[in-house]
Amino acid sequence: MPSLILGPLLRYVSERDAVLWVETDSECEVEILGTRERTFCVCDHHYALVCCGDLEPGTWYEYEVLLDGERVWPCDDGFPASAFHTYPKGTPLKLMFGSCRLAAPHVPPYTLTKDEDERGREIDALHTLAERMRHEPREDWPDALLMLGDQVYADEVSPGTRAFIETKRDPSDPPGERVLDFEDYTQLYLESWSDPAIRWLLSTVSTMMIFDDHDVHDDWNISEAWLEEARRHEWWNEHIKGALSSYWVYQHLGNLAPESHQEDELLKRVKAADDAEQLLEEFAFKADRETSGTRWSYCRDLGNTRLVVIDSRAGRMLEEGKRSMLDPEEWDWVNEHATGGFDHLLVATSLPWLLGRGMHYAEAWSEAVAGGAWGPPAAQAAEHLRQTVDLEHWAAFQESFKRLRDLFEAVGKGERGEPPASIVVLSGDVHHAYLFEVGYPKGTGLRTNVWQAVCSPYRNPLGKSERQTIRIGMSRGFAHVTRALARLAGVDDPGIGWRMTGDGPWFDNQVASLVIDGREIEMRLDKAVPVNEEEARLERVLQHRLA
Ligand SMILES: [Fe+2]
Repeated sequence: MPSLILGPLLRYVSERDAVLWVETDSECEVEILGTRERTFCVCDHHYALVCCGDLEPGTWYEYEVLLDGERVWPCDDGFPASAFHTYPKGTPLKLMFGSCRLAAPHVPPYTLTKDEDERGREIDALHTLAERMRHEPREDWPDALLMLGDQVYADEVSPGTRAFIETKRDPSDPPGERVLDFEDYTQLYLESWSDPAIRWLLSTVSTMMIFDDHDVHDDWNISEAWLEEARRHEWWNEHIKGALSSYWVYQHLGNLAPESHQEDELLKRVKAADDAEQLLEEFAFKADRETSGTRWSYCRDLGNTRLVVIDSRAGRMLEEGKRSMLDPEEWDWVNEHATGGFDHLLVATSLPWLLGRGMHYAEAWSEAVAGGAWGPPAAQAAEHLRQTVDLEHWAAFQESFKRLRDLFEAVGKGERGEPPASIVVLSGDVHHAYLFEVGYPKGTGLRTNVWQAVCSPYRNPLGKSERQTIRIGMSRGFAHVTRALARLAGVDDPGIGWRMTGDGPWFDNQVASLVIDGREIEMRLDKAVPVNEEEARLERVLQHRLA
């Protein structure tokens, strides 16, 4: 009898389609809502992507999962039936977002603060959300959850994954206590997504995902020098193959609409293979070595709101002097999809487009100096600094920063269709949360409100001293200094202004949401706070109208 290992994960949902993903322990036929699909095999693990079509628009569906005709889901653990609602939604759309979720047991000492115990990662915001949802009517559940990176930490493994690694190799040898290949990743995903509350949450809220560095490796693709160094490690090729092929299976496939699956030549070959491990490894290696030809970015229309999710990690061009977040082909794709004609345009990128002004100038300065603005010795020092303190955001890719600025201006002025009521950039990565209101120069003629909304982490908070560093990085004094340095290095002014909303930044584990009702949109931020040893709740710290 086949059994379910992981999932079901509810992924793509539209008016007529829903895509569900499962991992099973053996080859079988998976059936959901009358649609049957055979599993495919990678590295002796079995997966299925079940595309349920011909659904009724605007309708609730409760579902079960059958393996070879036997019911394996729901697993009767006290959670409500897994259910989803096809578009359009009769009620306001609720999109939750955030990033950074470290897998660790949800009991002490792992639920303590980092300052109380070094293993402590506090209360998981998504776990708390799931516990709240189980007592709410399903009409109040979020419609979608956007996971903006560090869904798994390949370089900071949890106790279970560490024990698994120790059964395979000596962790005192390179690459040490980190996830290396596809098999290791299966363990990491299992540990990250199999807690009953999380598993139920992922079965009933449609998720969209994009990687950040830790899904692969800390500082992944920060610079040309970093990449050269990484590729010198004997284990790097094996690692990048395992990282990208597992990302494709566990995260990427479910981001896409069923039409894309039908046209996907790689998926066809994977389904036809006895075991697609080698096939996917070849694809992953090529995707790492050549930026063109692979696109991890994708687009979803959530009612009359357009969401464009931009890969700001894998598709980078790193050659000094020509640094860009994306290659020209992928920029064309972004330009084609980030348009007006919608109530709202949401642009998701794991790395914030806007940082505190002081950090913005510091990153822009580091790019200029590492690129040779102050000569070779300074370039080396700036490279070292960039890698040490993670100067890797859009500000450190000035050409790309300006491209987004100009793109939003064009959309907001109505040059690319009727201007949306808001353009909101959604990001994670930085382990704190903030909302910036963006101002273009007077006379620009913008008819759209532009915002940068950042929420991180779901579960991996900063310690006290790290928080203090962030506060200094956001201070005016720091901005004065770094702006002067950036100017000396020949960096242009950003050409726009932005300011903090409310009393951010916010720390701790948290989850944000956008509530969209026609042309109106509101952002909310909720922190996970413990009530007692066993229970926690979400506490609202920000509620702000964006349009
Ligand atoms: Fe993170």
